[in-house]
Amino acid sequence: MNKRDFLKSVGGASAMMFLGPQLYAQAQRTAPAVLAEDEAFWGAVRGKFRLAPEYINLENGFYCFQPEEVLEAFIGHVRRVNVMGSRYMRTVQGDDKLRVRTRLAALAGCSPAELVITRNTTEALDTVIQGFDWKPGDEAVMANQDYGAMIDQFKLQARRFGMVNRFIDIPMDPKSDDEVLQVYAAALTPKTRLLMIPHMVNITGHVLPVRAICDMAHARGVQVMVDGAHAFAHLDFRIPDLHCDYYGASLHKWLSTPLGAGILYVKQDRIAGLWPIYGDGSAVDNIVKLNHTGTHPVHTDLGIENAIAFHEAIGGARKQARLRFLQNYWTGKLRGVPKIVMNTPADPARSCAIANVGVAGIAPGDLMKILFEKYKVWTVAIDGAGVHGVRVTPQVYTTTAELDAFVKALKELAA
Ligand SMILES: Cc1ncc(COP(=O)(O)O)c(C=O)c1O
Repeated sequence: MNKRDFLKSVGGASAMMFLGPQLYAQAQRTAPAVLAEDEAFWGAVRGKFRLAPEYINLENGFYCFQPEEVLEAFIGHVRRVNVMGSRYMRTVQGDDKLRVRTRLAALAGCSPAELVITRNTTEALDTVIQGFDWKPGDEAVMANQDYGAMIDQFKLQARRFGMVNRFIDIPMDPKSDDEVLQVYAAALTPKTRLLMIPHMVNITGHVLPVRAICDMAHARGVQVMVDGAHAFAHLDFRIPDLHCDYYGASLHKWLSTPLGAGILYVKQDRIAGLWPIYGDGSAVDNIVKLNHTGTHPVHTDLGIENAIAFHEAIGGARKQARLRFLQNYWTGKLRGVPKIVMNTPADPARSCAIANVGVAGIAPGDLMKILFEKYKVWTVAIDGAGVHGVRVTPQVYTTTAELDAFVKALKELAA
C-alpha cells in the first residue's frame, strides 16, 4: 500500500467513526446531487453540532463551528499536551505535526513539501506578499473586492520598497469567464510581478475562473497568489489543478477546525524566491523556512486531523453540492422579487454557499440589525467596494426550514 492509499484507509476508518456507520454508508452510496436535497441526512449531520437554539446562524463565513466530536478530540489534545509538557514538545510534536501536514497535503492534492500549516489566511498570504524581493517600480495587481488585510500588506510594501499596487473591480455578474479574465489582463503591465486573486470573493461569494486567470498571467510572466480563505473544504478541488504559484486558506472556516489554523501552499519552484518573515536555518528551497513561528498551541494543529476525518466522512463533492443547493434554494426564491438586490452571480457555477442580498431603501447595517432583532437571523452587513447588502452563509447544518424563515423575512421587508 502506498503512502497516499494508507492515509486514505486510515482516513476512511476515522471518517466512519465520526459520522457513524449508517450515515457514512448512506453518504458513500448516494450521488452528491441526490444527497444534496435529502433533509433527513443533513438533519442527522446537523445533530453532530451543538448550535445556539435562540437564533438562525447564517453567518458561517467568519468561522464555522467544530462538530461536537471534533471539539471533544481537540480538548483531548489539549489535555494530552498538557500532561506530557516538554516531553511531548521535544519527542512527539514533530512526528504529530508532520503526520497532520501530510494528511492536509493529501486533502489539498499537493506534496507535503509544498504546504505548511499556518495560523490563518492572513499569515499565509502576508508571508508571500512580504517575502517578495520588491524593487522600486515593481507592480502588483489586486481587486477592490479583495480582503483588507492583504491589501494593507501590499500597501506596506509600497511604502517600504516603492513598489506600486494596481486595483481592478471584479464584475458582479459576468456572462463568461472571459469577461473576468479580460479585466485582470488589462491591468497587467511588463512591470507586474504578482497578481492576487480571490478563489471566492468574500463579500459576494463569486467563484472566479482561477485556472484560466493563472494561465493568462503566466503567459505574461506574472506569478499568481490565490486567496482561498473561503474556498478550501468548501469547493471540491485540488490546489495544483488551479495552476497557481501560491495559495492561502483558513481551516477554521470551511474545514471546521479549532480556531487559528490555516495553510500556505507554495509551488516547489517558487519556495527559494521567498524571504521568510522569521529567521530559520532550513535550506532556502525548503518550505518550512516560511513557518518558523516558535512555540505554538500545537493542539490546534492536532485538531485538524479530526476535522479532516469529519469532512471526508461527508465527502468534498457531497458537501459542495449541499452548500450550493442551499444557496440556490433561497436565492431562487428571491431573485426577481421587487426591491430585492442580489449581489452574487446568477450563474450557479459561479458561486457556492455564500451569497449577498440587499433590500433597496434599507442600509446594509440596518438590514443586518432588523434581521437579527426582529427575525432572529444572524448575518453580516457588507457596505463597500460596490457591494451593499448582507452576506448570507449557510453551512452543512443549515436546514431549508431556516432558509424559508429568512426568505419570508426578506419578502416582508421588501414589501
Ligand atoms: C477573502 C478573505 N481573505 C482572508 C481572510 C482572513 O482570514 P483569517 O482572519 O482567517 O486570516 C478572510 C476572512 O474572512 C477573507 O474573507
